[in-house]
Amino acid sequence: MTLNKQDVVNHMMGFFQAKAVTSALSLKVFDHFKKGGLNAQQVAAKIASPVRSTEQLLIALHAMGYLQKEGDTYVLPEEHHAFLLSDQPLWLGWLGRHIDTFLYPLWEQLPEAVKTDSNQREAVFGDNRSWFDILYQNPDDVADFQEFLGKFAQPFIEGFVSQYDFSQHRAFLDIGSGIGSLPIAVANAFPDVKLAICELPQASAFLRDKLGSQGYGERIDVVEGDVIKGYLPIGDFDLIHLGWMLHDYAPDTQVTILRNIYNAMPAGGRFIASETPLNDDKSGPEFTALLSLNMLVSTDGGIESSTSEYLERFKQAGFSNARILEIPGPRMLIVGEKTA
Ligand SMILES: C[S@@+](CC[C@H](N)C(=O)[O-])C[C@H]1O[C@@H](n2cnc3c(N)ncnc32)[C@H](O)[C@@H]1O
Repeated sequence: MTLNKQDVVNHMMGFFQAKAVTSALSLKVFDHFKKGGLNAQQVAAKIASPVRSTEQLLIALHAMGYLQKEGDTYVLPEEHHAFLLSDQPLWLGWLGRHIDTFLYPLWEQLPEAVKTDSNQREAVFGDNRSWFDILYQNPDDVADFQEFLGKFAQPFIEGFVSQYDFSQHRAFLDIGSGIGSLPIAVANAFPDVKLAICELPQASAFLRDKLGSQGYGERIDVVEGDVIKGYLPIGDFDLIHLGWMLHDYAPDTQVTILRNIYNAMPAGGRFIASETPLNDDKSGPEFTALLSLNMLVSTDGGIESSTSEYLERFKQAGFSNARILEIPGPRMLIVGEKTA
């Protein structure tokens, strides 16, 4: 692949687009278009901002395709309501707030992170606690993180639950489940499988509220734990899943996590990690490669790996028959067993 000068300029100026969109979401600009079109004066009054700067933002949002324009009136196309209106389940404002609060300031320190091979939490937040301790210190930040990750995970969950026969298992444990979307989908499709989640204590209150409000409080048990420290429910679960979490940790910590899971499983049990790996020759994909930089600036040694590196770590942890299972959607399944 070769690039021309304009490609490079486009990459460098990409933050213009990112910040225009996260700012519009943060100001809840789109919400005011729910009932119909508005001109700049009307939007300015609704967001309590000067007309001139409000109009500058509207012109940019129109030029980027977020709004349409009829004369002086801006209109939010019906097709955009699902992800731009804050009362819609797919609203992307959760992601916008997470970007503005955490990712954007951390990415500003990327040169230092590359030079020192270390996260930039201390430089940005003046705080050297773990990534999840910082992320979870404020309940609103927990909600932002889990809500947008739940939306990211939806296409993966649809592929997983439609292709994998969970009914071959007695009991399923989802470690680091986030908002619980996978166990909820399994509960709906496989009524006889016993279900539990193991989550960090700081994320568990939010999770219990979410499950309870959707009617799954009794069906899905939430156990507080820590897979790195080995605090896991032992023995009962013949299927354990860990989604998009290995990449949050350094390779040696990943092996500790995998060993702890292996030790907690019954003989004959199966473990599945779902990840978005790098190609074996590390040629991409681009999103995973950039996500790896996100892990560099934010976590303690987190990194994206290839499927062969994941499989090697599975073997080191003791799993037999380690293999890749491809399913529709954005993730791959890395599967291992504890021999009976
Ligand atoms: C990136 S999110 C992934 C959420 C979801 N599993 C998915 O596949 O989209 C990682 C999750 O792992 C949880 N987590 C992180 N470290 C953990 C640990 N040491 N023990 C248990 N859960 C942990 C976090 O609270 C978070 O919900």
